[in-house]
Amino acid sequence: MPVPERQNAPLLLETRGLDDYSLVDSGHGRKLERFGRITLIRPEEQAIWAPRLDDSVWAAADATFTGDTEEEGAGRWKRRNGQGDEDWICRHGDLRFTCRFTSFRHVGAFPEQEAHWRLMQDRLPGMGDSPQVLNLFGYTGLASLVAAGAGAGVTHVDASKKAIAWAKENQTLSGLDESPIRWICDDAMKFAAREVRRGRRYQCILLDPPKFGRGPKNEVWRLFDELPPMIDLCRQLIDPEAGLILLTSYAIRSSFLMLEELCRDSLLAPLGGRLDSGELVLVGEDGRRLSTSLFARWSAV
Ligand SMILES: C[S@@+](CC[C@H](N)C(=O)[O-])C[C@H]1O[C@@H](n2cnc3c(N)ncnc32)[C@H](O)[C@@H]1O
Repeated sequence: MPVPERQNAPLLLETRGLDDYSLVDSGHGRKLERFGRITLIRPEEQAIWAPRLDDSVWAAADATFTGDTEEEGAGRWKRRNGQGDEDWICRHGDLRFTCRFTSFRHVGAFPEQEAHWRLMQDRLPGMGDSPQVLNLFGYTGLASLVAAGAGAGVTHVDASKKAIAWAKENQTLSGLDESPIRWICDDAMKFAAREVRRGRRYQCILLDPPKFGRGPKNEVWRLFDELPPMIDLCRQLIDPEAGLILLTSYAIRSSFLMLEELCRDSLLAPLGGRLDSGELVLVGEDGRRLSTSLFARWSAV
């Protein structure tokens, strides 16, 4: 098979926030975010630069996640002024969702996924009468609800009963109880394989697999082992004429932006000149590109 030509330079999908979310500041290994009425501090390894806002702004945060700095690691929330652990509701457009403090540092929404939501809202209405969307590892269901809101029939799969209950709660809050969403508590790989055997086809597949996870019957998910066969199943499930596959991975936490933003503050701002950044890539004989490292290059002229 011929190797397809390279098409795009690195693309940055930018999300500036949600109606009820903003990244307020970052630095010294942490980020300060606002989810609706609650401000949070969470660890962010890539924020090696200095925060821009005053200490007093950070000190006023409602909750700080302490403990494991691993992306998937467990930890605790320290609440300011002994506030309770009550849930709160956030919104974005027609979407309403419950936020709550989990021991895995998340509060139920990944706001940067809005870039995927926007694309679905653009594309799904042009995909026929009732385009079918498969959301694997769907968590609290925000992408499923956006797809349903855009007129799709949705199959949402997650291994956790708790996550599915949370997603259904968000469905009710968003006024989408009548929408055609199938909530399925299953192992994503097993379910996808079953759908292939049934000859099912989807117009859109979303998958946001964790680095490590377990299905409801303790099926083990390891990203680096399981992703290739999973993508193979997706290839068999996707509508080859009009399909869209949106794959996200949080397993690789470094970005050239870490260097870029640091050098922007530390070199470009005081010295002027020119800053370039990206990845250093080895190209194999077959044209396959292997990323070895990230770079930022400052030059006076
Ligand atoms: C990080 S979340 C995905 C975030 C979500 N896509 C979003 O944007 O809000 C990962 C989800 O995968 C689920 N999960 C982990 N292992 C699984 C497996 N083997 N099969 C199905 N779901 C699994 C977890 O229960 C969790 O809800």
